[in-house]
Amino acid sequence: MSSTVEQIKDRIDIVDLISEYITLQRAGANMKARCPFHSERSPSFTVSPARQSYHCFGCGEHGDIFTFIENMEGVDFKGALKILAEKAGVEIKYDGPKKSKEEVEEREQMFECMASASEFYYQRLQDNKEVMTYLKDRGFSAETVSHFQIGFAPDNWHAVENILEVAGHNKTIVEKVGLIIKGDKGYYDRFRSRIMFPIRDSAGRVVAFSGRIFGNKDDKVAKYINSPETELYNKSKVLYGFDMAKQSIRKNDFTILVEGQMDLIACHQTGYCNTVAISGTALTVEHCNLLKRMSKNLILALDADEAGIKATGRSAIIAMQNGFDVKVLRLGLGQDPADLLKDKDGKEEWKKLVKQSKHIIEFLLDLYKDKYAEDDRKFKKKVEEVVLPFVARVQSKIDQEHFIKLVAGKIGASESAVTLTLSNIHLPNEERQILSPTRSVDYKKHFSPLYMLASIISWQETLDDKAIDVEAIRSRILALVDKKDYESVVENLNDGDISYVEDMYTNNASVQAVVAERLDYLQQSTLRSKRLSLMQELHKAEVEGDNARVEELNKQIVQVNSALESLK
Ligand code: CTP
Ligand code: MN
Repeated sequence: MSSTVEQIKDRIDIVDLISEYITLQRAGANMKARCPFHSERSPSFTVSPARQSYHCFGCGEHGDIFTFIENMEGVDFKGALKILAEKAGVEIKYDGPKKSKEEVEEREQMFECMASASEFYYQRLQDNKEVMTYLKDRGFSAETVSHFQIGFAPDNWHAVENILEVAGHNKTIVEKVGLIIKGDKGYYDRFRSRIMFPIRDSAGRVVAFSGRIFGNKDDKVAKYINSPETELYNKSKVLYGFDMAKQSIRKNDFTILVEGQMDLIACHQTGYCNTVAISGTALTVEHCNLLKRMSKNLILALDADEAGIKATGRSAIIAMQNGFDVKVLRLGLGQDPADLLKDKDGKEEWKKLVKQSKHIIEFLLDLYKDKYAEDDRKFKKKVEEVVLPFVARVQSKIDQEHFIKLVAGKIGASESAVTLTLSNIHLPNEERQILSPTRSVDYKKHFSPLYMLASIISWQETLDDKAIDVEAIRSRILALVDKKDYESVVENLNDGDISYVEDMYTNNASVQAVVAERLDYLQQSTLRSKRLSLMQELHKAEVEGDNARVEELNKQIVQVNSALESLK
């Protein structure tokens, strides 16, 4: 934990931090203000940039960025650590307790259970002609089926449950890995009548399954069902096919990213073993960490439809933030790699597409040029709104200049106009820190609870399957802040903000937790600013000798204090 504290102190300047709350005035080498912790007329609160500390000569409060946040936000040290770690974009590292022998053993059992299940599904596929034929028609050879250990879950409520019991696996373990579900009438199999793709960790151990529907006529059933997140499986950390792609990525010095099992397998079968897949999620920082050990070049081959291009953009941003050179392979509308590769000339065609893949910035420029061929101003506007944020994220200044020239040429503007526009682009904080650690940061905007809540709401609103009750949360916010203020925050959100929260909070529980926490902060800060203005009024009333008013204000302050206390 101490290294986390150090890192945070390295990144956050006390003057910047305190300036978020009060206005500091320069006084020699220090900064001064009226103390936020007691009411006073002349400023005796002093901040020392050299010592990174503050001291009030009036009330004696003193400390560093951590104690300041503790007092100002009414949180304990752990709470302050959390708030500041987030501002600084630093991950909190706890020296967690060592895993016990039992825990290690249980993990082993979980892996064994998944291995047995995978073997079982594989066997069931081998004796199912109909499914084998289907896969063959989709272009998969028997070797491929065996290489990826593709399987089949029979149309039976207790197939895997029974077989794993016979094989001696404990039911609680089978449930823990997500293969069976406990219902009112006992356990039942999660996967039924599905083609099964084992998902492996980077060491090649099966940690989850993705099951594609087969033989079910009911079109209300999801096309794919995946294992839930378990102790073995964290979907934002696992890339399908990575275990088989590693060597090839290193050798070829680039990765191709596709969406879904079918596409991945088709690519590997064709000889493009440097392919990995995301499954129904955006690329994450953890995915990037896996890949960047092998190569920093990435080609995105996602869908060419509107949603696919959005997803491509999001993945590209994450990858660029993590230092990747990102290219896009342009597929035809409605075309996917698996279908394309099945054709007679598929392999040649794919090779051509890989070769023709363009840098994401060029890709977007061409895309919008085509789309707005009739309307030049609209084209320029799109470039400004959508393409320039990508240029802003290019890490190498020399490379960035290359793209500035390119953009200027394409839209027929001067390079200086492009550069100027670029300098006004507001990247979310945590990103800016990665790209340029020395630049000062606009914490206020990007890390206020309100901003975070607005980002989460805007993101959740787009989902069918929401983690939170958007309307309820919004009305709780509007009970605390002015509607206009909330709306202006929402208007200022950009794609990067949304993909940030989407990337940070990868499961429903974490979304709910952060929303609850931010609502608490929001309520606390509303109360604190109320207290501040009450104190100012109190001071005025004292000066004016209005005793009745003083008494009334004191009462109100006590109320606010106890409300704050109850929130802690
Ligand atoms: N996916 C998912 N849940 C769904 C739909 C899709 O997890 N309800 C994921 C799966 O990993 C899937 C990928 O998104 O492989 C791509 O979906 P899609 O393009 O619909 O499937 P394909 O892989 O193209 O399958 P097929 O060609 O057999 O239709
Ligand atoms: Mn497909």
